Amino acid sequence: MTERHMRTGVVGTGHVGLVTAVALASMGHEVVGMDSDQEKVAKLKDGQVPFFEPGLQDLLTKEMESGGLSFSSTSSEAVIGSEVVFISVATPTRSSGEANLVAVEDAAKDVAHHAEGSLVIVEKSTVPTGTAHRLRSTLRRERPDLADELEIVCNPEFLREGSALRDALEPERILIGAESERAFATMRRLYGPLVDRGCELIETDIATAELTKHASNAFLALKISFINAVARLCERAGADVDAVADGMGRDSRIGPAFLNAGLGYGGSCFPKDLAAFERLASRFGYQFPLLREVARINDEAVDACAEKVREALWNLENKRIALFGLAFKPGTDDVRFAPALTLARRLWSEGASVVGYDPVAGDNALQEFPEMEVVKDPYEAARDAHCIVLCTEWNEFAELDFERLKSELTYSIIVDGRNFFDAQRLEDLGFSYHPTGKPGF
Ligand code: UGA
Repeated sequence: MTERHMRTGVVGTGHVGLVTAVALASMGHEVVGMDSDQEKVAKLKDGQVPFFEPGLQDLLTKEMESGGLSFSSTSSEAVIGSEVVFISVATPTRSSGEANLVAVEDAAKDVAHHAEGSLVIVEKSTVPTGTAHRLRSTLRRERPDLADELEIVCNPEFLREGSALRDALEPERILIGAESERAFATMRRLYGPLVDRGCELIETDIATAELTKHASNAFLALKISFINAVARLCERAGADVDAVADGMGRDSRIGPAFLNAGLGYGGSCFPKDLAAFERLASRFGYQFPLLREVARINDEAVDACAEKVREALWNLENKRIALFGLAFKPGTDDVRFAPALTLARRLWSEGASVVGYDPVAGDNALQEFPEMEVVKDPYEAARDAHCIVLCTEWNEFAELDFERLKSELTYSIIVDGRNFFDAQRLEDLGFSYHPTGKPGF
């Protein structure tokens, strides 16, 4: 067994918490991942990752075998003996749009209860600005005896599902918001292995770190909605949105990332964070309607795709529509706020029957929308369908045998919600092809 640098607890083993725990263990720390969901902990103790994330299973197995990573359903095991404890519990959306922080408060109380002395408590969950302030009061109330020993740090995460491990182990930046030199020093030590490999550590006050996270996600969502609005315009003006994005993106002030037009964004972060950011702004007395407009344009992206299907098929009643890709993005089995499922519901409510295929997210999709049929093979999905809609751009869809697909389909129609397919090739094969934001469609 190799010697481990720092003992660290991670409370909450969802996507962010588990990736954080595994990444910290692989940096050489001794990590205890804690979750109140006993069933999940039983799986983790057994070495099983409860969701799909490329590379995570292998690294988790390796770190558990080397003794650097363990799991528990009791907070004391994550806290006692640790120098740092991360709080990475869920912050779901309330009906008002605000983040529900009950789990964060409960986790902080629990950590405080077991704290034995000096401890850095890290906000890893995405929380509104001002949460650290609240947490500090909570900790002081819970443990007045440790008022000067319990430090709050905000260390937002910027990892993306599907490439979460790489994002955690080779981050473009690590953001640390803290108030004392002691807390900064602890976090520098914790992330030392990444800093040694050239990763940049940014140190700010806590409110700045909290706000940077929401501002980053909101800005990325803004880029997506901007290009989707441009796509609507391109369709009317006879221009090509991909070429426009390319022309814009070559300006280093703009950059090419997150300018892929299509069905828009989904997932557990952008929709929730945008709503929470708007609520936060309004709580501080600042109206930020731009954020609502970003969300509106995102909804419009699904409407526009549904309209293409209607346009291609005329009546949707008695039509069978095959959705290719159900996850909110490739590389994950997460279907939360997946545009594919919003589209599926829309088409189904208008009378179409909907069949879906996804390399990994099929079961989750079926749970979310049981009215849909889910099959295990793209050719089976195409069988007797009147139209294919590409919703999630999994790489394997580049390898499809289109002649075979055509022979399975009732009508040879493809609506491309991600501009993923080669238009010329499909047209040469006799498909009626409908991409997003291109002339003539
Ligand atoms: C996002 C951020 O990218 C991460 O930095 C952040 O840490 C994370 O949220 C979080 O707050 O936890 P994630 O939601 O996993 O990560 O996925 P993204 O790669 O950002 O994609 C979000 C959505 O935008 C997907 O539905 C994707 O299909 C869509 N998208 C992305 C587009 O429609 N067009 C693009 O050009 C890029």
